[in-house]
Amino acid sequence: MTDTSMTYMQFLLNERRRSESDRDLMTLLHGVATACKAISNSLKNGALADVLGSLESENVQGETQKKLDVIANDIFLRRCEFSGVLAAMVSEELEEIYQIPERFPKGQYVLFFDPLDGSSNIDINVSVGSIFSILRLPEVPDVITYETVLRPGVEQVAAGYALYGPSTMLVLSIGRGVDGFTLDGNIGEFRHTHSSISIPPEAAEFSINASRAQWWEPPVKRYIDDCVAGENGPRGKYFNMRWIASMVAEVHRILLRGGIFLYPIDERNSDAGGKLRLFYEANPMAFLIEQAGGAASTGRERILDVQPLTPHQRVPVILGSRDEVELVERLHKEY
Ligand code: AHG
Ligand code: MN
Ligand code: MN
Ligand code: MN
Repeated sequence: MTDTSMTYMQFLLNERRRSESDRDLMTLLHGVATACKAISNSLKNGALADVLGSLESENVQGETQKKLDVIANDIFLRRCEFSGVLAAMVSEELEEIYQIPERFPKGQYVLFFDPLDGSSNIDINVSVGSIFSILRLPEVPDVITYETVLRPGVEQVAAGYALYGPSTMLVLSIGRGVDGFTLDGNIGEFRHTHSSISIPPEAAEFSINASRAQWWEPPVKRYIDDCVAGENGPRGKYFNMRWIASMVAEVHRILLRGGIFLYPIDERNSDAGGKLRLFYEANPMAFLIEQAGGAASTGRERILDVQPLTPHQRVPVILGSRDEVELVERLHKEY
């Protein structure tokens, strides 16, 4: 039974006592949770607070920034830079690596984040999220460059997301399983509501933007065709389909009831290497999914083993219930 009276902070303290883990990591995880609470608060009043809509600016990915992309990015920077435990930050919304201002002490950790995920859903009041990933550098040079932080996802020490849905949740792994916390607005604290989340190995629900089917590679086309064929097809069972267009919401559903999520490489996005970004979308979600007993792959290799070459690199993402992800990998080998 999950003890829902336990707050997120108490949970972190408990974990630290259990494993003698690093106090600095706990300080950073506290900063991240505070940022997520502040973002949740900015989202809550929507149109009433004049925070919806787009700006004229574009981010490094060439996407038009939403007002809330920028607000959420600033919240993450302000809530985390003073922690004293960070070497640098990397954000979807910042072209350059964020150097910790001189006035704050520095530490060994690097925080990667997608401040607002699913931002096309903001203006229509559908669930969005924030995603974060944390690395610990073996040593901290005076000047942090991208080369310093281009490390594979397998080195992550913690990862998680906040989901701003009907309730606000924080889902976290520090490498010992996956736990979920629900924001109790009355006390302004996350409370432990989901312990040791584990994904069933089999699935009967898939998640893909099917409007791109015309550009898919043969193994993805074959996998989805077989699912859609239902009881009379080669899989011999019915598959349900969901697409929210917020990765956080899709991953949350998969963590709680299984399924598979695909954002594959296709003819239209192959020059970029896919759509989703390795550092602040694919890696943290792959870490959580693996910690919950699932699998995460590019179709050709384990996401956590991908050796990054550039900071805003994109990768194909196939993640969820283990048996399904392995099947998609096998199809990639066959073609
Ligand atoms: P972001 O809003 O952070 O740029 O991420 C959007 C991503 C992800 O959340 C979602 O799975 C996907 O883009 C949706 O893509 P489509 O527009 O193709 O549906
Ligand atoms: Mn974006
Ligand atoms: Mn995103
Ligand atoms: Mn985003």
